[in-house]
Amino acid sequence: MEALQLSVREGVLVMEISNPPVNALSQPVRAALMAALARLGADESLRGGVIAGARGTFIAGADIKEFGKPPEAPFLPDVFAAIEACPKPVVAALHGAALGGGLELALACDVRIAEAGTVLGLPEVTLGVIPGAGGTQRLPRLVGVSAALRLIGTAERIGAGAAHRLGVVDEVVEVDVVGAAVAHLPAKRRVSALPVPPEAPEAVAKAEVAALKAGKGRPAVVAAIAAVKDAAALPFAEGLARERAPFLALRASPEAAALRHMFFAEREAMRLPAALRATPRAIETVAVIGAGTMGSGIAQAALEEGFAVILYDQNADLLTKAGERLCAALAERAAAGKITPALATKLRLSLATGWAEIAPADLVIEAVFEDLAVKQEVFRQLDAHAKPGAVLATNTSYLDIDTIAAATSRPQDVLGLHFFSPANVMKLLEVVPGSASAPDLAAAGMEFGKRLKKLPVLCGNAFGFIGNRIYNAYRTQCEFMLEDGAWPEEVDAALEAFGFAMGPFAVADLSGLDIAWRMRAAQAARRDPRTRYVPVLDELCAQGRFGRKSGAGYYTYAAGKRSAGSDATVRGIIAAASAARGVSRHPLAPEDIQRRALAAMVNEAALLLADGVAQRASDIDVVLVQGYGFPRHVGGPVYWARMQDRAALERGIDIIAAAAGFGFRRGSLDLLLTESAP
Ligand code: 3HC
Repeated sequence: MEALQLSVREGVLVMEISNPPVNALSQPVRAALMAALARLGADESLRGGVIAGARGTFIAGADIKEFGKPPEAPFLPDVFAAIEACPKPVVAALHGAALGGGLELALACDVRIAEAGTVLGLPEVTLGVIPGAGGTQRLPRLVGVSAALRLIGTAERIGAGAAHRLGVVDEVVEVDVVGAAVAHLPAKRRVSALPVPPEAPEAVAKAEVAALKAGKGRPAVVAAIAAVKDAAALPFAEGLARERAPFLALRASPEAAALRHMFFAEREAMRLPAALRATPRAIETVAVIGAGTMGSGIAQAALEEGFAVILYDQNADLLTKAGERLCAALAERAAAGKITPALATKLRLSLATGWAEIAPADLVIEAVFEDLAVKQEVFRQLDAHAKPGAVLATNTSYLDIDTIAAATSRPQDVLGLHFFSPANVMKLLEVVPGSASAPDLAAAGMEFGKRLKKLPVLCGNAFGFIGNRIYNAYRTQCEFMLEDGAWPEEVDAALEAFGFAMGPFAVADLSGLDIAWRMRAAQAARRDPRTRYVPVLDELCAQGRFGRKSGAGYYTYAAGKRSAGSDATVRGIIAAASAARGVSRHPLAPEDIQRRALAAMVNEAALLLADGVAQRASDIDVVLVQGYGFPRHVGGPVYWARMQDRAALERGIDIIAAAAGFGFRRGSLDLLLTESAP
């Protein structure tokens, strides 16, 4: 099929890009556009041109798959220069997505008309690059520097209405955008020739700070800010030339490669292996059991996507309050334009205190306390009251799906759906079929996750699934490091310097130490006394230090602010643990801390992959980045490992093996480092 389909309507050359799935601006598209623009310029019977996208979308951007390869002419700036140089007007007819290079193409046209529902944005910084084909120079000429800093720096995607208000698009139509473009052929109006609207320096400075913060100061954001500011300071041609160099340099950077890996890994993760593909059961009504934080978050996520939700809790007071909070939260989301007003005004929420009321649900998600006996009791009730064929899901983060399923007479309908808190915000969803789950259940869970606009990842049913199992290994290693000589703030600082959103002890304090404490107590009887065990967390809890919520944990908290370091009590507890183990404490350098923490993750990832808990290595990266604050720009622990020297990695694992001692299971790096997505 031709990459560009040409037709003539009322003397207008319609150039329809046809490059499935998203009409990316691959080399054949660029070449075809150059040829078509030459024809438009030369053919006297043509009055102007329209550039549109075939099927569901305009253009999703440059072809990200080309980014790892040597650039091939014609380049996007050449195409866009040809649009501007064409003596006849060219209209961009937008629908679906106009992103990255797609929006840049539209900005090079004389006029932009968008169908309602079009999404526009310059998300390049999320791929570690800056707009490289004039976006940083043309956008400020239409919207001003501070709005351009916000859009480019934060990678925000906006709708057609907002784009119209900002001046990015000239007209919004309900239907037939190509027809409207043909009908409204304008005079030539080159964006590059427009002046950048003047603005108060304070407004620009404020937008710059916000963009830097949103982009965590990563190199692409820094470069994007500089390029946008150039637009106001330099003539267009000079600004354009200054934009291209950092774009090309960043495109070739390891960070951009890691971010591209994440882009494709996330899309791959949502694909089920062939053997598990099935038509998923229809799900329209969802019952959520438990109106606590997790249950309410899941209910909100489902309501926002238009599901009917039955929220069950035996505690009527708690339930009423949760219902009120949900109404308020949805109204807030509607007011912020994040969901349609109808979803908030016609809330499809019912509150239930009786089990019989869950009968209409196609999917029931249990979100009660993480305790096997409690969950089994819930599942006995679900078995008695859910309709036949309903999917019965448990939102457990560690427990065995089969043991929970065994509490029912229909284990074939039982599935693990592990949400992350806050469940209405976090995108990750671990989908965990049990050994008795029906063949279509994995598909049901994945499809439900996609409908919630989450990132569902298939996991095997093993303790902690993918995420918590790796996080446990990491956190255990960090506890060993406390006992070996580091203080909590040293471990946290080293890992935050590596790029983690928060260090493990700050995270532990935030989520509360008591959950881990209870779990450890439950497992104590089964723990081999020869296994290395660090009693620091237990001791902190025994002293009432449950983390942030109790005002103290590894750190102390005053007015919600974390102390800079651990206090004498914590240090005393840690030093006592070291002494009890007979360890003479020695300082650990930040690199040693990073090496051990990463080695622990990589080793566990190797075990998970070998055990089949993860379907593919890249799924592990998706889980750790999306759910556990692993730095996205590093690409996840497996991607990171693949960038390291093999011998150094093995030495890192030698160190953690020695630190753990008895019972350490060493994973083989062979599979982890070589496995490619099926
Ligand atoms: N290049 C190559 N492939 C792309 C692509 C792109 N820009 N955008 C999406 N795809 C592919 C995906 O990998 C996926 O392939 P698969 O089916 O083989 O897995 C397929 O298109 C469909 O993508 P999604 O699964 O994401 O489909 P959705 O319908 O959920 O979303 C979308 C569509 C909103 C367009 C989303 O794909 C998206 O946000 N794409 C990325 C947009 C982007 O970042 N553009 C900037 C590119 S960089 C650039 O343009 C540089 C320029 O300044 C020079």
